[in-house]
Amino acid sequence: MCGIIGYIGEREAVSIILEGLKRLEYRGYDSAGIGILKEGKLSILKCKGRISYLQTLLEKKQISARIGIGHTRWATHGEPSSRNAHPHSDFSRHIAVVHNGIIENYQELRKQLEKEGVRFTSETDSEIVPNLIKKFYEGDLRKALRKVIKILRGSYALGIISVDEPDKIIAIRNDSPLIIALGKKENFIASDIPAILAYTRKVIYLNNGEIAVVGKDDVEILDKRGRKVAVSPEKVSFNIELAQKKGFKDFMLKEIYEQPSVLSRILSQYVKDNRIDFKTSGISPSLLKSIKEVVIIACGTAFHAGLVGRYLLETFSRLPVWAELGSEFRYRHPVIGKKTLVIAISQSGETADTLAGVREAKRRGARVISICNVLGSSLIRESEAYLYTYAGPEISVASTKAYTAQLTLLYLFSLYLARVKEKISAEQSKKVISYLKKIPQAQRKVLEREAEIKEIARKHLHFGAFLYLGRGVNFPTALEGALKLKELSYIPAEGYAAGEMKHGPIALIDEYRAVVCIANDSPLYEKMFSNIQEIIARRGKIIAIASEGNEQIKRLIKEVIFIPSVEPLLSPLLTVVPLQLLAYYLASLKGYDVDKPRNLAKSVTVE
Ligand code: M6R
Repeated sequence: MCGIIGYIGEREAVSIILEGLKRLEYRGYDSAGIGILKEGKLSILKCKGRISYLQTLLEKKQISARIGIGHTRWATHGEPSSRNAHPHSDFSRHIAVVHNGIIENYQELRKQLEKEGVRFTSETDSEIVPNLIKKFYEGDLRKALRKVIKILRGSYALGIISVDEPDKIIAIRNDSPLIIALGKKENFIASDIPAILAYTRKVIYLNNGEIAVVGKDDVEILDKRGRKVAVSPEKVSFNIELAQKKGFKDFMLKEIYEQPSVLSRILSQYVKDNRIDFKTSGISPSLLKSIKEVVIIACGTAFHAGLVGRYLLETFSRLPVWAELGSEFRYRHPVIGKKTLVIAISQSGETADTLAGVREAKRRGARVISICNVLGSSLIRESEAYLYTYAGPEISVASTKAYTAQLTLLYLFSLYLARVKEKISAEQSKKVISYLKKIPQAQRKVLEREAEIKEIARKHLHFGAFLYLGRGVNFPTALEGALKLKELSYIPAEGYAAGEMKHGPIALIDEYRAVVCIANDSPLYEKMFSNIQEIIARRGKIIAIASEGNEQIKRLIKEVIFIPSVEPLLSPLLTVVPLQLLAYYLASLKGYDVDKPRNLAKSVTVE
């Protein structure tokens, strides 16, 4: 939520900040702004709306500088507007700040500052920060900032510039992501790696409470007490190409198409001679031997992956498993302890609710491992061990390739755990791995049906509501299909376990309701087929996902998306692909921006 970037160096800061903001736009896109220092003056330009509006404004002004900060916003406090956009400055316009996060005690701090004569111009929580820095400033920004953070409560990543110290950007993070990127005679701060990939791959991941003093030629990292911290920069393993559309109309479509290669990449990283090798993950067999239950914590799409994971872990390891929403788990007084293994799943590794759940679990003594797509993220750093998903940067707000990557890791981890617990034989594990190896090709076959799925979407554009039904391991697929549709197309959609239909939702069925039925080959197929007949009897309009060669469904239903027949337990890796494409086309044919759906942001760093 919110993207921040800062540049100091010998090149034109404005264009670098603007390009960086475009790459961070997935983090929020309701307003944007930029602040620069030049000839002893602070200039701020900001506006409501997308980065393209800001770009037009900047082109008119033709400003230039060698140091500046930028921000793209996802509103929390105060509506999207130009006055609530960042950067915010102190009332004397000496200090400018960009902020990602929430200052929880801003109201009391604001009241106090108002009593002291400060006049605020926005409704944001962020505007108190430059004013507090100004209040404590006695010739050293770092010292002033250290005083400020002692009284701030909440989460923040901050980028700060000041006319009084025009040779540096000061940055700090507390529970909101921030990296420092190192170039030659230039340095950067950013919320996320894609913003800086065009210039450098050398980064420092700031730890909570650390202050970075970023100059053109050097960077200093200080701890909470102002002592220098020795850090070694890390090299980002992916390049700028992975963060570009590469000929696809949108990032989402590109990411849907990347799924087969992501799956193959994961298998090549973690499977050696048909055996699962988690050496790089830090997961120790002795930890797994000691655990008696598993709790999966995640949000949104990652939670749906967790629901599939629950089936897999129970099937293979025979341990009790729960999947929990991060936002609920921490307030439930969960009964867990040192024999509980928590698996936290997150694409970004910065989702505040998931992190809060993890902290609660650790507080109660549970052991935590994570499945995550961002190295250096808060989640990875707070986990005892982690499984990296190798999906590459996922830019589209709607998660697709990260989901199937998370599923793949859950298959591998379930087998691994079951082997450690001696619940399955090496042969059984090998067999499942051999099935997994066939999935990328099967996914490619589904992708070949893109034109057909687009046509089905076109025929259903006028439907006002959708129901998604699945059973067993594909019940979570139904939830995921419905989530994709609502977040992209704004069409009300619900996912249901097909067996629950008769307990209520069947009342919704009529000729105006589209019902997406996941009816692939599985031990539950016959039950699903009965549900389909119940829907037809009530004149519901069905779109079926069925296995190739299913003549029964072909005879009964007009709109069928056929997918290759795979081992039923592995089918969620396949059945979700047509649902992603269906949601994609139902939104893009309506003319919506699929990469940046309204009201959303890619990484949800507020609770
Ligand atoms: O980064 P995370 O995987 O933790 O994000 C969790 C959810 O915010 C995310 O999956 C969200 O539901 C997506 N927009 C779904 O497409």
